Amino acid sequence: AKVVEYEWVVDYAWAAPDCVEKQVISINGEFPGPNIRSVAGDTVRVHVINRMPTEAVVIHWHGMLQTGTPWEDGAAYVSQCPIDPEDEYTYDFVTENAGTYFWHGHYGMQRAAGFYGQLIVDPPENFTEPFKYDGEHSIVLNDWWHASMIDQQLGLFSVPFRWVGEPQSLLIEGRGRYNCSLMAGGSACNATRESCKLHVMPVEAGKTYRLRIASVASLGSFNFILEGHNFTVVEADGHYVEPVTMSDIDVYSGESYSVLFTANADSSRNYWAGFNVRGRDPKTLTGLAVLQYVNTSGEPSTPAPVSPRWNDYAYSVAKARQYLARKEFIVPLPQRGPDRQIFLLNTQNRVNGRLKWALNNVSFVPTATPALAALKYNITVEAHGGHSSATPPDYFQEGYDIMKPPPYPETVQGSGVYELKGDQVVDIILQNACSLTANVSEVHPWHLHGHDFWILGYGDGVFNASKDYASLNYYNPPLRNTAPLFPFGWTVLRFVTDNPGVWPFHCHIESHFHMGMGVIFAESVDKLPDVPTDTMGCGATKFYRSP
Ligand code: C2O
Ligand code: CU
Repeated sequence: AKVVEYEWVVDYAWAAPDCVEKQVISINGEFPGPNIRSVAGDTVRVHVINRMPTEAVVIHWHGMLQTGTPWEDGAAYVSQCPIDPEDEYTYDFVTENAGTYFWHGHYGMQRAAGFYGQLIVDPPENFTEPFKYDGEHSIVLNDWWHASMIDQQLGLFSVPFRWVGEPQSLLIEGRGRYNCSLMAGGSACNATRESCKLHVMPVEAGKTYRLRIASVASLGSFNFILEGHNFTVVEADGHYVEPVTMSDIDVYSGESYSVLFTANADSSRNYWAGFNVRGRDPKTLTGLAVLQYVNTSGEPSTPAPVSPRWNDYAYSVAKARQYLARKEFIVPLPQRGPDRQIFLLNTQNRVNGRLKWALNNVSFVPTATPALAALKYNITVEAHGGHSSATPPDYFQEGYDIMKPPPYPETVQGSGVYELKGDQVVDIILQNACSLTANVSEVHPWHLHGHDFWILGYGDGVFNASKDYASLNYYNPPLRNTAPLFPFGWTVLRFVTDNPGVWPFHCHIESHFHMGMGVIFAESVDKLPDVPTDTMGCGATKFYRSP
């Protein structure tokens, strides 16, 4: 195994990914940031130098298990202190399962400032993947706003709430197209900019390609289509799945997929690769790229691809249920039931007039002290601003009516963590509910750090343990790191606590997590080795002196 090394200078930059210029976060002057490629078992070493004069930064390696290196997980105030302006930090971790992943900022809402890129892990040389292809293309999907990340964040925390609204454009590989005629003034929007030429994927007729699709969306659920071509899904979140052929694929924020397609359409023309918003009433034009057969040029003259109706959730659930672990690669479940069940009721709430999201009536707030070092060294963390530091509950109130807005919208904010013992089978039962608005329940894609989990099943209404446990898939459930929770429904996840660390588990919608939609699992903290001191120094860790 080798060491793959990068030096990344992080700074603000101007960019116009959809023809409209705004401030973004760049790496070595590039936007979006570079992709990383390694072979499973390689060490990835990234020297981060923060040259943003006014904010700190961290980088999360989404989907990396960080076995034995929980401090390299890159979650601000969980695994480390954020890297201050003009300061540096070196991430150093070993890649494990081959597959398609990505990296992104994990401090405040930095992902929304365009701070992301792909992270591809190739299988070791002696390993043959269960499929073949001639070439590959990366397809990172994102939603994009003209308002700055700071404007968006301030709006979320304002009373009254100021919603940034639906995205102005949808980006593929950091490129999209805003209709400049919709903009007053005009000078900021320039449709002839090089930076907003649509992304082009060259293909040769008759060849088979692997598309590595990932969504780093701040808000939307997406549906991706390749005009004129069906494709076969073969990998999801770094695990092979039973091949399933489709004409369109749902991609939730935090998910990644590999799909194979053969360039077997009429090769005298080009085709659209496009994606649309689902799960919210779409107000944004289709995000487009060009699938370009050799010896052709320009853009297709056909209309942009159309996705299934945005609120056809039965369609989405049926699609999600199609993913099963690939036969030769099934990782069997432990031969016993759960040692621990954590039920998490997802509700929208208020705290002193501010809009929040909560789990079992606790809305998460970070402290100024990274939880990993604090727990390892028994550093007492003062929960500031009157927030609770109590351990949050494993259950919610029996008989809670998920079909109605919360009867008591006011919730509490807390920084407490769930402590998990080692070698336990843990079930997470995500329970969706009605938001503050009657008859509205949203999709929440839940992402876990430090683990992959089996998705045992999805269902409608309130999860009924005595009945619904019998309906779950214990034979070939997919291993994933992100799972959607559908409106007014439930999702059951299972994992084994075999990786000591402190791991966030949160909704991957940037604004939802920022508004409290997450929990922290402190797993086998007693088994943790010493935490590197360069992850410390902020909050209460500044008083820590190593013995
Ligand atoms: Cu990709 Cu904690 O997130
Ligand atoms: Cu959410």
